[in-house]
Amino acid sequence: MISAIPCVNIDKKEDKVFLFKRKLSDICERAMRAGRRIDLKGCNYGETDGCCRFVARPTNYYYFLAGLVKSEGLTTILESGTHCGGSIMSMSRGIRSRHIAKSKIVTIDVTYKNDEGFRGYPHIMRLQGDAASDSVVEKVVGVFKRPLDLFYVDSAHEYGHTKKTIDLYSRRLRPKYIALDDIRLSGEMKRFWRELVDKFCDNAFDASEIVGRKKAGFGIIRWSEQTK
Ligand SMILES: C[S@@+](CC[C@H](N)C(=O)[O-])C[C@H]1O[C@@H](n2cnc3c(N)ncnc32)[C@H](O)[C@@H]1O
Repeated sequence: MISAIPCVNIDKKEDKVFLFKRKLSDICERAMRAGRRIDLKGCNYGETDGCCRFVARPTNYYYFLAGLVKSEGLTTILESGTHCGGSIMSMSRGIRSRHIAKSKIVTIDVTYKNDEGFRGYPHIMRLQGDAASDSVVEKVVGVFKRPLDLFYVDSAHEYGHTKKTIDLYSRRLRPKYIALDDIRLSGEMKRFWRELVDKFCDNAFDASEIVGRKKAGFGIIRWSEQTK
């Protein structure tokens, strides 16, 4: 169970109460607008299990992720669930040129696909293994010397593993944002998302409509605000 933290959506400073400056919905809309202007040529989804065996184009949420990175100026990014690399390559395209030197990007997967495609992205660190295993967590924590800007979770789409992965990395790396794919995919994912909304209130936003992912679902958590 996620521990119950009361929904406090105000920020107390010097006895004054401020409302959050920006709504998550506004941040997401801005991210999608920014993302549509980013060239994601070559950031293909790749192999699928569905009727279409190979998706040779970027998916909608790649534009959102790239736009979020760009519009929020994010530089430290962790992904659980690399697959062929389309999403992490898209996020890397969103990094502003003046931020590249200080950026750090890591992606984890139990598989190791698309070696050739990754040759153009030597700055992306790839780790092979179970994202929720102790050995992988320790390696990742050792790489990031400062809090994460973005943790994108798109690996085993089941309640237990998703919760464990988010808990493990958030506790150690205190991400500013967590993006979560497939929040409408199954009963387990819907349940997990409901728990996140109960815990994070206005700091959890179902961005599925904005991202263009109404069926599978896509959520954003402003983790750092809730846990200050
Ligand atoms: C939906 S795909 C990721 C798609 C990719 N993020 C994208 O958007 O292009 C899910 C990936 O998670 C990986 N995966 C499944 N269980 C995992 C685990 N326990 N740890 C790390 N990766 C895992 C799978 O091998 C698969 O490549």
